[in-house]
Formats: sequence, C-alpha cells, structure tokens
Amino acid sequence: MDGTKHIGIRNVSSVCSLTELDDHDLSRLLERPRLYIERQRSFDERSLSELPMILTRGSYDNYDSMHSPGGRSGIDTPASWGGNSFDPHPIVAEAWEALRRSLVYFRGQPVGTIAAYDHASEEVLNYDQVFVRDFVPSALAFLMNGEPEIVKNFLLKTLQLQGWEKKIDRFKLGEGVMPASFKVLHDPVRKLDTIVADFGESAIGRVAPVDSGFWWIILLRAYTKSTGDLSLAERPECQKGIRLILMLCLAEGFDTFPTLLCADGCSMIDRRMDVYGYPIEIQALFYMALRCALVMLKHDGEGKDCIERIEKRLHALNYHMRSYFWLDFQQLNDIYRYKTEEYSHTAVNKFNVIPDSIPDWIFDFMPMRGGYFIGNVSPARMDFRWFCLGNCIAILSSLATPEQSMAIMDLIEARWDELVGEMPLKIAYPAIESHEWRIITGCDPKNTRWSYHNGGSWPVLLWLLTAACIKTGRPQIARQAIDLAETRLLKDGWPEYYDGKLGRFIGKQARKYQTWSIAGYLVAKMMLEDPSHLGMISLEEDKQRKPLIKRSSSWNC
Ligand code: GLC
Repeated sequence: MDGTKHIGIRNVSSVCSLTELDDHDLSRLLERPRLYIERQRSFDERSLSELPMILTRGSYDNYDSMHSPGGRSGIDTPASWGGNSFDPHPIVAEAWEALRRSLVYFRGQPVGTIAAYDHASEEVLNYDQVFVRDFVPSALAFLMNGEPEIVKNFLLKTLQLQGWEKKIDRFKLGEGVMPASFKVLHDPVRKLDTIVADFGESAIGRVAPVDSGFWWIILLRAYTKSTGDLSLAERPECQKGIRLILMLCLAEGFDTFPTLLCADGCSMIDRRMDVYGYPIEIQALFYMALRCALVMLKHDGEGKDCIERIEKRLHALNYHMRSYFWLDFQQLNDIYRYKTEEYSHTAVNKFNVIPDSIPDWIFDFMPMRGGYFIGNVSPARMDFRWFCLGNCIAILSSLATPEQSMAIMDLIEARWDELVGEMPLKIAYPAIESHEWRIITGCDPKNTRWSYHNGGSWPVLLWLLTAACIKTGRPQIARQAIDLAETRLLKDGWPEYYDGKLGRFIGKQARKYQTWSIAGYLVAKMMLEDPSHLGMISLEEDKQRKPLIKRSSSWNC
C-alpha cells in the first residue's frame, strides 16, 4: 500500500458550520467566552490567545446532539483563523505513513491495525494481532481524516466474532463477549484469509476483556456521529450486538453496588495489578458505553427493555461513582477522620474503610485544589491510585460533573511532574514497590516499579488527555504534553511505553512502532487543530439527571 499517497491529506472540508446550529445553540455559543475565561485557571496568558479559536469552534456543549462530521478541516476553516494557523509538525507525515503500514486486510478489505509493527523485536507474542482497544485511536484517526470505511469494516468483523461460541477449557463465556484481539491468517496456496480470535482463552492470565465490548459501542457511536450514517447502528445485527454486550452487565444478581465487578487484568492493564473489584477504568467505560447505547438503541420490543435497564443503571452508577469514588482534599480529610464499625443506615463510613489503610503518599500528592476518581472502592478497600484512562473517560462521558472535570485537570497541572514528567502520560500513579510489588503483582518482572502498567508512561494516553483538555476548555495543557511527546516519539521509534518516575527511558520491554502510540499522537494533533472532532468521543451531561448534593468545597470552586 502506498502510504505516502494519503499522508496528511485534507479531505473535503466538512466541519460543522453555523448553519447547522439552531438559535438555542447559537446563544450558547455566544456565551462560550465567559465560560471559558471562568474555567481558565492556569497557563492563562497563552490560553487567552486561544480564544478566537474556541469561539469559532463553538461550544462543545452542542456537539452531543449534533452530527460532527469527519474529514479534516480545509485550509480556509476556522482552525486557521486568528493567527492560529495549523503548521503540521514534520512527524505527522511520518506518523501517517507508519499508521498505514500497520493496516490489516481481510479478503482485500482493511479491517484493523496490528498492535505493533516491530520487526526488530525477538518475540512477536500477540502484537501482530488487531486488538479492539488498540484500534480505537486508529479508528478515530481514520474518522477524523474522512476515511470511515475501515472503521465500518472493523465494527462488522468484530461483531461477527462476537457471534462465535467462546469457551475456555470446558467453560462457556457469555454470548456478548467481544474479543480482546483477532488475527488474520493468509493462506497463499489456497488464497484464503481466515481469522482467529482471542476472547481470553489465549491471553496471559486467561482473562476476558471487559473493555472490548464497551469500546465497540463507543466506537459505533463515534462512527455514527462522524459520518452521519445512522444505517450501520440501526442494522438488526448491530442492535443485537449492543444488547448482548450490555446484557452481560445489566443482569440482576447478588450485587449491592451498581458498579461492575471485574477480574484483574480485564482492560488495558491486562496483567495482575490489583485492579480487580470495581476498577475505575472499567466503570468509566461502562458508563460511557451505557450512554452511547442509549442514543443508538431503537425503542422497539427488545430495545425498550434494554433502554429501561440502562436508564436505571446509569442513574445509580452516576450517584455511586460521584459519591464514593471521588476524592479531593476535603474528602480525604473526611476519610482520615472516619470512624469504623458503624452499623445501619446512618453510617457515614459505609464501606468500613479503616483510616490506617490510607497510604502515606496520598497526603503529599493531594493538592488543595483538585481531585480525581480513585482506582477502586469496595468493602474496607479503597485503592487511592490515580488512573489516567478512567479519569479522562469520566470527563468525556460526563460521569464527572463539570466541577469535578475541572478539578481533575487542576490536579494534572498541580502534579505535572508526577503524572506527565518528561513523557505523557502515566498510566497509573504511583508505582507499587518492594514487598507490595511482590504480593500484588505476583513478582511480575514486566510490572516492576515505574515500568509498563506499574507507573509506566504511555504515549497512547495523549489522545485521551487532549480530548479531556479540550472538553474542559484547557487546550494549553494538551499542547504542552504534545510538545513534550514530539521531542521523543519519532526519534525513539514510537515506543509502547516509557519507564521511570519522569518517563525518561524507553520501556524495558516496550515494542517499537506501537500503533496506538502513533495513532494516539495523530488524534491528539487533529483534535487540537479542529476541536469539533471532540464530539465523536464526548458526551455532555445528561440534563435530566438530578445534580448530586455537594460533598466538598472543591467541587464548586
Ligand atoms: C499489552 C497491553 C494491552 C494492549 C496490548 C496490545 O498487552 O497491556 O493494553 O492492548 O499490549 O498492544
């Protein structure tokens, strides 16, 4: 495939124009500068120069209800107004070339991108497969570049795989489970392409990917939003696919929490890292997938029942997460002073968290202004670690209130060295060390402190940070992170992750030419150039859901 042919192509300009906004939208658009200034707390001088761009791009509050077409903006689009002209960095072209090299074809059609195109690596493992989660940034890059076909092919192909009977040893998995990854096998003799898929039966640790189904639903909405093509999501097989995924999560049982109970290693962090229970990474994706499904499901016989369940669950999940997972200075102080052994409905310390279990590091880490959703909450256990993906998705899905979203960004700024350092962005903070590392990871040599999932820095997370920055009106934070990444990524050969407290070293076992590092960078660049792309991957607060009673002061700062 001739990669250079398409590099940096500006397809037909199709950003949303003023004519697509109704009067209500327009008045909100005019309100934007006020909001923007109010929300701005830092990087102020430089950010103010963004104002013309923010104004012309309109209020993101509108994108939820609007079709936000793909296709990169043309040269004369608002992104190039007001002295903000977009000057493509030389590595953008290289990134596109590398992304196209990773394309995987099935019977002549592109159906995905392989995880890494690293010929130098001795061990291929499963990095030559198309991972569902890894394909998401690739898909967004293609949608933003006006190339939706590959995304459609991928959605349909993985949907077919969902239909397979899935067994691990003698145990059958739920019908709705989506694969973690699949591989296309080319038989040159019979000239036949076949597919093998992994639902967890080959994966290290034998864990099924809970995130795959959620990403599938989120991507289907992104495709619909970007192309305006409703026909794909409306197909009976897609409707069924959505229902099957959600039925795995919406069944009633022994649960006393609306959060989803998970095994360790069932998401991007796919090895033992003490993320079992109710990990934020999954709860945020679950919330986003439920909201995306709600706008795509038809109100027909089967759809209606599913919709009702979704609405109830969203209501409870929203309350639970905002109340019990949220941590800021005030809340930390409250927990620190918790009484234990409280019984009955009047208990303040509902989960009987013992204050002595609060780790020392959190007292220094928590800024006066700022907050985040902690890693996990279950009986007598709070995992205070900060996880990047969960917090960014909480912003994008509006699981976080606008105030919480601002607080998450405040924390990222306040703890820039710890979370961004020299390479964006820490997957989790802090690392687990010594004895704790032995017990928790099972002595995993790949997850040693400040490496890989254990406090490593993952360039792919740049797109999530950028989206969250744009949504909260703080693009300057993203710009700083992108600038940092640009000094290293190409030179280092697009590593999968970096190691060290500041993320200075190419990861011990990191693959090179890791596709989602490449695609994540491109998506971040394209979103910053044309923030209207945000609509594909962001949902505004559901106005019907009642606001929650305040728990602490930094919520409304
Ligand atoms: C590693 C990562 C996982 C990713 C896969 C392919 O297993 O932990 O998140 O999907 O590699 O890149």
